[in-house]
Amino acid sequence: MNSTIENMLQHVSVRDFKNESISNENKNALLLAAQSGSTSEFVQAFSIIEITNPQLRKEIADITISSPHVKKAETFYIFVADLNRQATILKRNKQNLDGIKNMESLLVATVDTTIAAQNMAIAAESMGLGICYIGSIRNNIKQVANLLNLPKFTFPLFGMTVGVPNIKNQHKPRLFTQNQVATNSYDNQTFNDLSNYDEEVKNYYLNRKSHPQDTTWTDKNLTMFDHVHRPEVASFLNEQGFSLK
Ligand SMILES: Cc1cc2nc3c(=O)[nH]c(=O)nc-3n(C[C@H](O)[C@H](O)[C@H](O)COP(=O)(O)O)c2cc1C
Repeated sequence: MNSTIENMLQHVSVRDFKNESISNENKNALLLAAQSGSTSEFVQAFSIIEITNPQLRKEIADITISSPHVKKAETFYIFVADLNRQATILKRNKQNLDGIKNMESLLVATVDTTIAAQNMAIAAESMGLGICYIGSIRNNIKQVANLLNLPKFTFPLFGMTVGVPNIKNQHKPRLFTQNQVATNSYDNQTFNDLSNYDEEVKNYYLNRKSHPQDTTWTDKNLTMFDHVHRPEVASFLNEQGFSLK
């Protein structure tokens, strides 16, 4: 196993950072890594906004509610799914925007943005830095978009905190390979045979140092999906120009 893969297997989200800065050289390397990922049809449908203004950082951190580390992390980026450049090109050339508004383009922008963020995450972790994705900016996606002056055909997908880890959590065990990987056909039975994995996750939660709890992966999912999260995201995306069709 090479060092890249070893680093990937050690991934944990970091929510407690030291008060240490990241050099500009390293930040530039992170951004170049993010920009270097694969991109659907070369559309590069994302933008990255670093939040350096303390007041703006506080306002966004307040929206995330459950993520106080957003206030403390040395560096905080917002990843914006972005088809605005394409909209501008089409308008300049008097072409209609149907090809941008549709669901497939929304997926393309979401995937491109996620690939960029994960490239940054892997680059950061290879430098010994820690990261945490911050999806909870979508607690008030419209407000975040307003704060960042986002134009139509863009939306803030998630944030990412980056910094020097102070406390690192224990590694969270992932689904067993047989629960998630098959050959040639979806393996419905094995993919849903989760009792051994539930045991593993239960042990992890019971024995972890911070916030131990008696729960399983099944329990976590029952809680996660017992209600509809952020139903207003769809109408916000509509307002941003996407048809969701
Ligand atoms: C898209 C996305 C959004 C996330 N949003 C948050 C968040 O708002 N706050 C937070 O503390 N962690 C957030 N996380 C981190 C997950 O909780 C974490 O990755 C998951 O529990 C697995 O733990 P690990 O990364 O330590 O292995 C997010 C992760 C992803 C991929």
